[in-house]
Amino acid sequence: MKRTKIKDALNAQAPVADICIKGWVRSKRDNKGFSFLALNDGSCLATIQVVVDHTPEIEAALERLGTGASVAVYGELVESPGQGQQWEVRGKRLEVIGEADQETYPLQKKRHSDEFLRTIAHLRPRTNKFSALFRMRSKLAQAVHRFFADKGFFYVHTPIITGSDCEGAGEMFRVTALEAGSQEPAENDFFGKPANLTVSGQLSVEMFALSLGDCYTFGPTFRAENSNTPRHVAEFWMIEPEMAFADLSDDMDLGEEMIKYLVGHMLDECAEDVELFAKWVDKGLMPTLETILKEPFKRLPYTEAIDILQKAKKEFEYPVEWGIDLQTEHERYLCEEKFKKPVYVYDYPKTIKPFYMRLNDDGKTVAAMDCLVPRIGEIIGGSQREERMDVLLARMQEMNLNEEDYWWYLDSRRYGTAPHAGFGMGFERMLMLVTGVSNIRDVMPFPRTPKSLDF
Ligand code: 4AD
Ligand code: MG
Repeated sequence: MKRTKIKDALNAQAPVADICIKGWVRSKRDNKGFSFLALNDGSCLATIQVVVDHTPEIEAALERLGTGASVAVYGELVESPGQGQQWEVRGKRLEVIGEADQETYPLQKKRHSDEFLRTIAHLRPRTNKFSALFRMRSKLAQAVHRFFADKGFFYVHTPIITGSDCEGAGEMFRVTALEAGSQEPAENDFFGKPANLTVSGQLSVEMFALSLGDCYTFGPTFRAENSNTPRHVAEFWMIEPEMAFADLSDDMDLGEEMIKYLVGHMLDECAEDVELFAKWVDKGLMPTLETILKEPFKRLPYTEAIDILQKAKKEFEYPVEWGIDLQTEHERYLCEEKFKKPVYVYDYPKTIKPFYMRLNDDGKTVAAMDCLVPRIGEIIGGSQREERMDVLLARMQEMNLNEEDYWWYLDSRRYGTAPHAGFGMGFERMLMLVTGVSNIRDVMPFPRTPKSLDF
């Protein structure tokens, strides 16, 4: 007999004479002559109530069923006389699938701290909070693809193993082939040159934008940043659109449209879950999301941002002067205290930005933008790209980059170059925004951070 998912059973329009439900026991309550089981199968937040009368077989099965065990229930879906649920299962037969040792099962029915749950990342999707969160993560990823599909963008799969350092920050993980049958790196390196895990798919997606027009890539990204913050992980997912014949202002328009779309989509499609997070995690979540939806984002040149920060009646830990890279404290001041909505800072000093950003006429700044959102800080980083060959080459020389390494990238400027622009959005940071979760480790299935590679 085919199983019915609990979500579908709970949405039934009429009783069902024969039904099979499979799931994990959240709780068991024994009464005289009968017992209740609350089962969850991950298809939705709710549990379904199962009522079984005590027969010798059922009692034998119940003996083996504690919190965390998996079970198949065969019976009837009937209207529930109890409160708080429309349907329940009158179980006629229980089949124990997998027992769970009650002495050691770490998820007994009580509230666990996020810190504790991080130590059992392999089991935390069985809790209400994390099952909801990972369902939302999946919906959000699907919404990203829907957003671009609706706008006619093409999805490009950019490589994970790369020979270049897009951001030029040197924060990369090296990829080495092992000698067959050994744990030692092979003597002849596999690719004939150093290979790294990608820090950004941008350089590749630029090639596609200058061929197919509007494109995006969405994939895993790796940074060997040794920073232990609630916003950085060594492996994260990045969404990187790239548009041909577009400038910085088109780029900011797209980012704003995308954030608004994703927030709106989650409020529509996952209303119940978002409300739970507003209740459990962050009381300020709804007002933040509403502001994002209805307010136009502030657009602020970097030079003005520095001026505002210098005049702020606030002690920053990191001193503010023209030329610095904004720190999280500065970013959060701008969007949380000064403007109280998302803020784009644009036209950054060229000295703190990578080689590919388009030089502005002042010769000092580049057409870069960061989008800063309340509670998180930077969620998007992007730019108009330098399409002028001579300016790009001069910039690469200034930064000591080896032209030969980028021969293929430079070809796009050599043959039919065109203005283009794009950005990268941290997928996890977007998920933090719509859930109010404040630690990036809690929106990743298995977070990778310095000194932590369990699971
Ligand atoms: O600002 P970043 O470094 O920009 C780039 O990599 C560009 N090449 C993107 C592009 O223009 N196509 O990173 C973009 C975004 C950041 O705004 C942040 O949201 C996220 O990626 N991000 C991280 N998220 C989690 N952990 C980290 N270590 C992250 N580093 C960046
Ligand atoms: Mg950045």
